[in-house]
Amino acid sequence: MLYLESCIDGARKYINDETVDLIIADPPYNLKFGGTTQTKTRRPRFNIIANDDLSPVAYRRFSLSWMREAYRVLKPGRHLYVCIDWRTYPDMVRWLKLVGFTIKNCIVWDKKQMGMGWQYRYRHEFIILAVKGKNKVRRVSTRKKSDVWEIPRIPGNLTIHPTEKPIELMKTIIECSSEPGEYVVDFFSGSGVVATAAEELGRSWVAFELDPHWYEVSRRRINAATNN
Ligand SMILES: C[S@@+](CC[C@H](N)C(=O)[O-])C[C@H]1O[C@@H](n2cnc3c(N)ncnc32)[C@H](O)[C@@H]1O
Repeated sequence: MLYLESCIDGARKYINDETVDLIIADPPYNLKFGGTTQTKTRRPRFNIIANDDLSPVAYRRFSLSWMREAYRVLKPGRHLYVCIDWRTYPDMVRWLKLVGFTIKNCIVWDKKQMGMGWQYRYRHEFIILAVKGKNKVRRVSTRKKSDVWEIPRIPGNLTIHPTEKPIELMKTIIECSSEPGEYVVDFFSGSGVVATAAEELGRSWVAFELDPHWYEVSRRRINAATNN
């Protein structure tokens, strides 16, 4: 089910305590990002996404609010994955610990191709692996996999959302941390990649998107996957 709603309010309304098997959160990184800048006009291809241009205090409040909801709804011992880049990583880890999560690892997503950046061009992002509680922690399902994932990013001119992640990335997370039929929640749907991956892998899922435009983009992608 896809909701046009803030994940904070939506989780409160629709998700009971300790019922979710896996949460994926790809939140706004608070970097005022509107996608790759076009060469000719030098303007970003999209508008800045919601909650991506907050004061430090407001961003902290926003992050702690969604993290508290994530903690409440996740089953003990299960995984939360948080996409983030090096600039926001220290704050994210601190806040996740504050709400009760245990940090288990930091996956390095090697995008295989350089993006922008001029003190070295960016090629990686981080994905924090956090667990609810310390006891009876679920192991990721493959012990052969390292914490560096080489998955090509989508070229900037082909993305349909400014921070769109490849479906292979989300499928990897879902396959490593849940079983078919289990319940996956995406707090920040964007273009609907997590829900599409969950649908294709036979998981039940819920996703939240605040912005009506991105809700519609998500809805179309998910419908296309469901009707196949
Ligand atoms: C980093 S993007 C997610 C991109 C997505 N993973 C993808 O691959 O397309 C974050 C998304 O969260 C949405 N958003 C911002 N604040 C939100 C909130 N409180 N609840 C739900 N969605 C929110 C933004 O509109 C944006 O589309």
